[in-house]
Amino acid sequence: MSLDGQNPTKAIQDPAMQDPATGSQPAPVVRAEDRAAVVSGATGPQRAQLAPEQPLALRSVREQVEDARHTARKILVLGATSGIAEACIRQWAQRGDALYLVARNPDRLAAVAADARTRGASSVGSAVADLDDTAAHPELLAHAINGLGGLDVAFLAMGVLGEQSQAERSFSAAHQILHTNLTAPVSLLTWLANYTAQRHAGTLAVLSSVAGERGRRSNYVYGSSKAGLTAFVDGLRNRIDRDGVRVMTIKPGPVKTAMTEAMKGSEKFADVEAVASTLVKAIDRGKDIVYVPGIWRIIMAVIRAIPERVFKKLNL
Ligand SMILES: NC(=O)c1ccc[n+]([C@@H]2O[C@H](COP(=O)([O-])OP(=O)(O)OC[C@H]3O[C@@H](n4cnc5c(N)ncnc54)[C@H](OP(=O)(O)O)[C@@H]3O)[C@@H](O)[C@H]2O)c1
Repeated sequence: MSLDGQNPTKAIQDPAMQDPATGSQPAPVVRAEDRAAVVSGATGPQRAQLAPEQPLALRSVREQVEDARHTARKILVLGATSGIAEACIRQWAQRGDALYLVARNPDRLAAVAADARTRGASSVGSAVADLDDTAAHPELLAHAINGLGGLDVAFLAMGVLGEQSQAERSFSAAHQILHTNLTAPVSLLTWLANYTAQRHAGTLAVLSSVAGERGRRSNYVYGSSKAGLTAFVDGLRNRIDRDGVRVMTIKPGPVKTAMTEAMKGSEKFADVEAVASTLVKAIDRGKDIVYVPGIWRIIMAVIRAIPERVFKKLNL
């Protein structure tokens, strides 16, 4: 894990920042001088770069007025190089939110962070981390929240589609999908839920999938990881909603991103910018369950209603 180019061993212990998972283990925080670097997100030469093929969108007068009225939010993005996350980050940056971005590819993360700065984010911090490494989560999350100076929204976007055919033959391939899509988010959300519940504030927005609603022959391993994630997030909402924390289960249908580009018919999938617009608004409102595009609520109701004796004969 690399935290804004800082050496994590430089972090100091602050008793006020306890690990909420245990309530006793102090979590590391950033030194004041490091914090300035984290909050400014100073990554030198990338500062003025724009990500390729992502021109600055022209804002209508109405949108500019809305942006001016908007109170900047402190948003943590886990899996910040995901196509869906990047599109949301562009919109959050444009309205001046404060961002802390976590991803495992340093070059792509630097480009996303530089793009967010250019678009107007009030601050951009970042950390390179493989989110499969659950042992590193408490330190990473404490560092991110210190960098942001608090937390309004945590957006969990990382995920892998995996190879269904490989996962049918090899448990380790299936386990990898389950680890990234279910175990790692459970680890992140357990820490984040306890942190936000203690403070009676915050929104945890999690990208699950419509694929979690019914096991299909073509992608039941990915689908089962998302079914588990959906159940976990739904249950978590029922646990901490009364503490003043919004927990959102987001269920996209197929969206045009790197994850789906090799799929047949992907040119007809939902446009990622439109999906991001829906999500940014839904996260502002803290909706419980979001299907995006909305038509997938109806499509999945139909798919769930197909009797199993018929469903098992379909090539879905
Ligand atoms: N696109 C769709 O049709 C669709 C539909 C339903 C749900 N979703 C869900 O939406 C989320 C975002 O998907 P997307 O469409 O934006 O796909 P994407 O562009 O392929 O993004 C997935 C992201 O997850 C990151 N990631 C995977 N494993 C990671 C790890 N161990 N540590 C850190 N980052 C990791 C990837 O990083 P690298 O690039 O470095 O690998 C990538 O940035 C996923 O959870 C996906 O399952 C997508």
